[in-house]
Amino acid sequence: MKRSFNPFDEIKGNRILNRRDFLQLATLGVTVLGTEGFPFSSIKADSPATAFQTSSTFDPDVEIDLQATPADVSLFPGQPTRVWTYQAALLKGDSGSIETIAGSYLGPVIRVHQGQNIRINFRNDLPEASVIHWHGLRLSSEMDAHPRYLINPGQIYVYEFQVRNRAGTYWFHPHPDGRTGPQVYHGLAGLFLVSDDEESATRLPSGEHDLPLVIQDRLFDGNHQLSYQTGGMMNGMDGFLGNQILVNGKPDYVLPVATRAYRLRLVNGSNSRVYKLAWSHGAPMAVIGTDGGLLEAPLWREYVMLAPGERIEIVVDFQKFPVGSTMRLLSLGFSGAESGMMGGGASLTNGAPFTVMNVVVVRKEKVGKFAVPSTLSTISRHRLEDAVNRDKPRTFSTSFNRMAWVLNGRRFAMNEVAENEIVQLGTLEAWNLVNDAGSARMMGMRMMHPIHIHGVQFQVIERQITPGFASGWNTVRAGYVDEGWKDTVLLMPGERVKLLLKFEDYSGLFVYHCHNLEHEDAGMMRNFLIRA
Ligand code: C2O
Ligand code: CU
Ligand code: CU
Repeated sequence: MKRSFNPFDEIKGNRILNRRDFLQLATLGVTVLGTEGFPFSSIKADSPATAFQTSSTFDPDVEIDLQATPADVSLFPGQPTRVWTYQAALLKGDSGSIETIAGSYLGPVIRVHQGQNIRINFRNDLPEASVIHWHGLRLSSEMDAHPRYLINPGQIYVYEFQVRNRAGTYWFHPHPDGRTGPQVYHGLAGLFLVSDDEESATRLPSGEHDLPLVIQDRLFDGNHQLSYQTGGMMNGMDGFLGNQILVNGKPDYVLPVATRAYRLRLVNGSNSRVYKLAWSHGAPMAVIGTDGGLLEAPLWREYVMLAPGERIEIVVDFQKFPVGSTMRLLSLGFSGAESGMMGGGASLTNGAPFTVMNVVVVRKEKVGKFAVPSTLSTISRHRLEDAVNRDKPRTFSTSFNRMAWVLNGRRFAMNEVAENEIVQLGTLEAWNLVNDAGSARMMGMRMMHPIHIHGVQFQVIERQITPGFASGWNTVRAGYVDEGWKDTVLLMPGERVKLLLKFEDYSGLFVYHCHNLEHEDAGMMRNFLIRA
């Protein structure tokens, strides 16, 4: 038997490496994905997932015990609400390395510095298998974690990695194939905030004036329990839409502030809802960061779009507001995402206007005049002419097949990768993501798809709209913030975006998918392989 068997020599034409091929290779004792030396086999829920071998040489700067467990919380007067939470305990590191979000079942907030070694001992005490994905981080496939690294109830998995990312607002949430939507929905979402020296040099509001705000929509039944209905015709089409907006896990959220400047890290942790965020007092938003950290310079926007999975950082100065005054963070109305015949169900549709939260000025604070720093960071720009496939970008398009959303006509399969889903480590590529207009027209469904790519931060260099789809697009396009690093990008119906991505960290198997979690769970996810 050849020890150095390379299964990718076998890929001819459009042949897909399927699970059987890989299992055969695995039973031959062949390590398929070379450089990292892990056997390519899925960990089934009934076979014990062996914890990642902690290496004796790995010396963590921060070590955390993290447990996923059901809990009862009081969200409304009377009966408590059953949620699922992450509970953290710091074993090693600076005491500021973990914070809880006051009074919230979301979290924790993990705060680390670029370059630090992190060890997280994750214990799954949920009644079902789970896996933690560190959204936006540059990690190996085992740490990322690809959905095949399922952790059964009662098991422990040790995540060990060095923080390579620049300063930014990253987050973590479950990622089991087919169950991401319900697990996130029931409360599992935490923040992973990275700082670096460049960020420390900018004079942005910090400490208690640097606030993560996770925005979600939920539906509660008469007993205050989270209800997750995606059945019938709605399943996998619209996704889940709730009628109540929660910020940091709280309905009717009120943010108390002093008369000073704040840095707000807005995270869309919703399953399917897209927000068009604006201030009620009409002041433009000072945008300072995106998914992958700070922009080069602040941007002022009338409104910003925030799709599931995305982050936007803003700075807001309340200095001129009298104590006692209030304002609101709104989600403005937009159009273009009506889902035709499937449009029933949700009372608060995607695109409907509502209030996200209230802000109340509660305290006078004597602070010097604040100005948003005019320089925030340096961003090295990828150039299309440097892409290996500059003349022929890979295309990934969404469509609707047999009652489910698919990518290039295919649904997710755990151990399957198509030829056009194999890229080379170390290369810069151009990708076109296409929200296929034909299928939207045919089905009478105009669906938004926020596409997320694991293991990489990318740059958006171009957007185009199909004729006939511009009127909806025109109600959102001024709110795109494509100037910074991104890991998730919103595609409106009929929209096409061009990305530049460099696969510079690890070889291995990663996923890309729609971050509408019901679309993802219904199969709108695919593997891509970074070959060494
Ligand atoms: Cu935030 Cu693959 O997900
Ligand atoms: Cu991710
Ligand atoms: Cu989608």
